[in-house]
Amino acid sequence: MAQTLALSGGTPIRTKPFTSWPIFGKPEEKRLLRTLRSGKWGRLNGKEVEEFENRFATMHGCKHGIAVVNGTVSLRIGLMAAGIRAEDEVIVPPYTFLSTASAVVEANAIPVFADIDLNTFNLDPKAVEAAITRRTRAIIPVHFAGQSANMSAIMAIARKHKLTVIEDAAHAHGAIYKGRPAGSIGHLGSFSFQSSKNLTSGEGGIITTNDAALAEACRSIHSCGRIPSGLWYEHHVMSGNYRLGEFQGAILNCQIDRLEAQTKRRDANGQYLAKRLSQLPGLHPQKRIAGCDRHSYHLFMMRIDGAKFGASRAAVIKALQAEGVPCSAGYAVSLNQQPLFRNNAFGPYLPKASARLNYRNVRCPNSDLLCREQTIWFEQSMFLGTRADMDDIARAFEKIHENREALRQNEPVGQASSLGRQPMQQSWLKRDP
Ligand SMILES: Cc1ncc(COP(=O)(O)O)c(C=O)c1O
Repeated sequence: MAQTLALSGGTPIRTKPFTSWPIFGKPEEKRLLRTLRSGKWGRLNGKEVEEFENRFATMHGCKHGIAVVNGTVSLRIGLMAAGIRAEDEVIVPPYTFLSTASAVVEANAIPVFADIDLNTFNLDPKAVEAAITRRTRAIIPVHFAGQSANMSAIMAIARKHKLTVIEDAAHAHGAIYKGRPAGSIGHLGSFSFQSSKNLTSGEGGIITTNDAALAEACRSIHSCGRIPSGLWYEHHVMSGNYRLGEFQGAILNCQIDRLEAQTKRRDANGQYLAKRLSQLPGLHPQKRIAGCDRHSYHLFMMRIDGAKFGASRAAVIKALQAEGVPCSAGYAVSLNQQPLFRNNAFGPYLPKASARLNYRNVRCPNSDLLCREQTIWFEQSMFLGTRADMDDIARAFEKIHENREALRQNEPVGQASSLGRQPMQQSWLKRDP
């Protein structure tokens, strides 16, 4: 007989918490204290950020690393360094965090959404090719969840159309594709060190590249448009102060020592769980592509086909949480469906293009399907635990599947997001002409 679901008063599979994040200890304390006592707290007079830039770049197969305040600014600086101009088009996926597309708008360029592949959750090269126009200048593939996009196909398209490729590797620290680290395959790579990321300093980011001219441009833009041979108060290009601070550099220099072992463990646990879950009907963990030598599992992401599994995503998520397995549905809508894009709420950016852009007509059915009813996310720190932790997740799914009939009786209603229908009521968004 099936065990009673925790939702219905049964014993949960698990009461013990999974591994929490961040992980830190004496090395971080020592370095932070040393930095504090040095009185050198800024990038311009300390050595921590410089040391980290060199280590991170080398570890990711790049000659240059430019640390910045976050992984949004890193994308924008990359676009500016690559010479993207006002109203140029940049192809981005719709299944990603805001920044992948908002950084394009902040560079005064136009994000063009190309749909993702339903099994890998990354840009579909065929959709990229179809989205190219005479205005296209760049592609930003996201290595979503920590698995590299199909970079062979994307780089071939970029070569054919002379486009710049900026890898959004915010999820992909330590990921490897065909022997090459994520962030070293395109012209530029962009990483985030925000709190949830696999390598974190609370906030932070880095740009990686093997191109000396692009590195020079990024370094100038990240520090007030200065150039190495110029005077201190000499500013050559539109820029700002986007330098990372020394305390963050100090933490990152310790966190990076932990990264390799953590990445190996996440990848092993993620692969094991994917194998187990694939045995249940209707469950589709992110498909591992040919050439994925290492997945960094910033997220363990999967699809559930509710009809085949026998219960909807919303019901399964609720049941998993009750069984002691934290998870979420991820993005409620594709990025192109966000009010920002539906309403062309671009503030001072894209003043001319706004009149002709209509994101309401953009169609990304694969991404929409994932958001609306299929994705389930598990966070990276759960994959730093043991094989027994993975077995608990798998057992929770198995238990829910056995109880699918009972679960269907309690289907939650109104699970669809209201985001797409949200009226613009906030007065601060409006302005008199
Ligand atoms: C795919 C992706 N790109 C870019 C970013 C932006 O990074 P940050 O939060 O450091 O600005 C994130 C962050 O969460 C992300 O998930």
